[in-house]
Amino acid sequence: MNSYMDEEFESIISPILEIDEFNQLKYITHHGITRFDHSMRVAYFSYKVCKALHLNYKEVTEAALLHDFFFHEVEHESKTGRLRHHPDYAVKNASKYFDLTDRQVDIIRTHMFPVTFTPPKYLESWIVDFLDDIAAVYEKGYCIHHEVRMTMVLFMFFVVNFVKMR
Ligand SMILES: [Fe+2]
Ligand SMILES: [Fe+2]
Repeated sequence: MNSYMDEEFESIISPILEIDEFNQLKYITHHGITRFDHSMRVAYFSYKVCKALHLNYKEVTEAALLHDFFFHEVEHESKTGRLRHHPDYAVKNASKYFDLTDRQVDIIRTHMFPVTFTPPKYLESWIVDFLDDIAAVYEKGYCIHHEVRMTMVLFMFFVVNFVKMR
């Protein structure tokens, strides 16, 4: 488990970390690490980026942490089916414990766009979608040099700021 030395981040995610079912993600392999650690990484990236952009980072951080809250519901499906349908299971599981806002549902449901066909409705959803991809690339150890990864992140900052200014 990663430790992110940020008190505010820790306090936002603590109600989610109290859920036993969510902690079961620590025992599931995902991108070569655990699904729990992957979710924490996406949540922390989302927290940092959305806070820097003065967006609703609390809402986003919660949704980002819950974006892959699924288990074996997709095992009967093809690989494509799993990729497309696991966000719906994550929404369903998260909804058992939290009253998700429309933005949070959108963040979770569209985080696989364009693999799933419905595009995100909110800027925050685009950000989490992008950061999930960055995290996956990092975790899968693709041959992407550190500078290239940082360039991708900076590029995203420019895109997001451009969108905000319009
Ligand atoms: Fe996912
Ligand atoms: Fe993910």
